[in-house]
Amino acid sequence: MTATAERIKNEEGLFPTAPRPDSETKPVADRTTTNPIFNNQKLKLGLFGTNCSHGLTISHVETTYETSWEHTKAIAQQADRMGFEALVPIARWRGFGGTTNFNGNSFETYTWAAGLAEATKNIGVFATSHLPTVHPVMAAKMATTIDRISGGRFGVNLVMGWFAPEMEMFGQKQGEHDDKYRQGQEWVDFAKKAWTEPGLFDFEGDFYNSQRVESYPKPHQGPYPALINAGNSSAGMAFSARNVDVNFAALDTIENMKSYSDKIRGMAREEFNRSLDVMTYGLVVVRDTEKEAKAAFQEVLDKGDYDAAENVTSLMGMQSQSFRAQIEQFKERFVAGWAGYPIVGTPEQVTEQLAAVNDAGMGGFIMGMIDYNEELKYFDENVMPLLKEAGLRH
Ligand SMILES: Cc1cc2nc3c(=O)[nH]c(=O)nc-3n(C[C@H](O)[C@H](O)[C@H](O)COP(=O)(O)O)c2cc1C
Repeated sequence: MTATAERIKNEEGLFPTAPRPDSETKPVADRTTTNPIFNNQKLKLGLFGTNCSHGLTISHVETTYETSWEHTKAIAQQADRMGFEALVPIARWRGFGGTTNFNGNSFETYTWAAGLAEATKNIGVFATSHLPTVHPVMAAKMATTIDRISGGRFGVNLVMGWFAPEMEMFGQKQGEHDDKYRQGQEWVDFAKKAWTEPGLFDFEGDFYNSQRVESYPKPHQGPYPALINAGNSSAGMAFSARNVDVNFAALDTIENMKSYSDKIRGMAREEFNRSLDVMTYGLVVVRDTEKEAKAAFQEVLDKGDYDAAENVTSLMGMQSQSFRAQIEQFKERFVAGWAGYPIVGTPEQVTEQLAAVNDAGMGGFIMGMIDYNEELKYFDENVMPLLKEAGLRH
């Protein structure tokens, strides 16, 4: 380093530059005008898990679904044409074994989102990011790039990582549950600074320490991309209530949806003086008759890969002998929809069920399907008009 460069670095910060133009230091538009996740549809709709093998079904049920780029792109474009709000991927680095190696074949989600941002026109495109695996400077820059590609339709699902064997791939030991949310808090504070700070900034914390950080340009949508989080524990709910726009929850009954939604919306309001939306997810099976829909759902269970489901439930710590029956029942919920809330029936019944979910405080439903590509067309023709008639969509 020359003496002059050394002096500049010490006295004025690293390589000071002329003031940056607005095109670099300001977003292009307010996110409520660019990102459909903030639109005024009463019930928002999305797809979940279309970047991973077997999607939300731990099963050998017959399907044309596959994790190829052409296939995942076709699904995204179909959902885009239907006016859906969100494409939410699963962040997954290894499979769950069994005969399916469930979710073992997967696309990394920032790069997946970048490709789909270019391939779609209106739908919100998300990455799901295991925060400990990516530095906030890197993540903020990738998010900004995807947001610019999409014209402000991008968002990040912030997850801490619960699946120890995949965190070990990154050389990370699974620490205390709530510590992960402490790191997550620093991560999100840091990333928000990178997205909004017009000049240089330092960041000092327990997990991150960086000097003279800059990040240009800013995202297309201001102040920063939509943020969602799927924390459902006390620490997770508090993280969501404080930081994000949407909490994603795994909920098993309409009553639990109602109490969960009241609780987390109340936390956001009372503890952080802000509001957030709540959404849930599950496997959607719609057929002409109730009998056919139930049979299709049952086929997922009958052809289930219960070894992989066992791996999931035991990794989640559900090994207690005394709750054997509940665990067996729980395994079935994983096999048919990753423990989400199943929506099964005729177009009319599915509309009623989605209305009940919405009435229970869920602002959106993020779907899995046995065969996304084929079933979306049926959903478009037979369910979308009923959702409009029911006042859930316009
Ligand atoms: C809708 C939804 C999506 C999730 N997506 C992922 C994911 O892609 N990758 C992951 O490792 N965990 C994912 N999780 C797990 C959550 O990050 C979280 O670990 C779990 O909901 C338990 O909440 P807690 O962290 O507050 O204990 C998801 C959870 C839900 C409900």
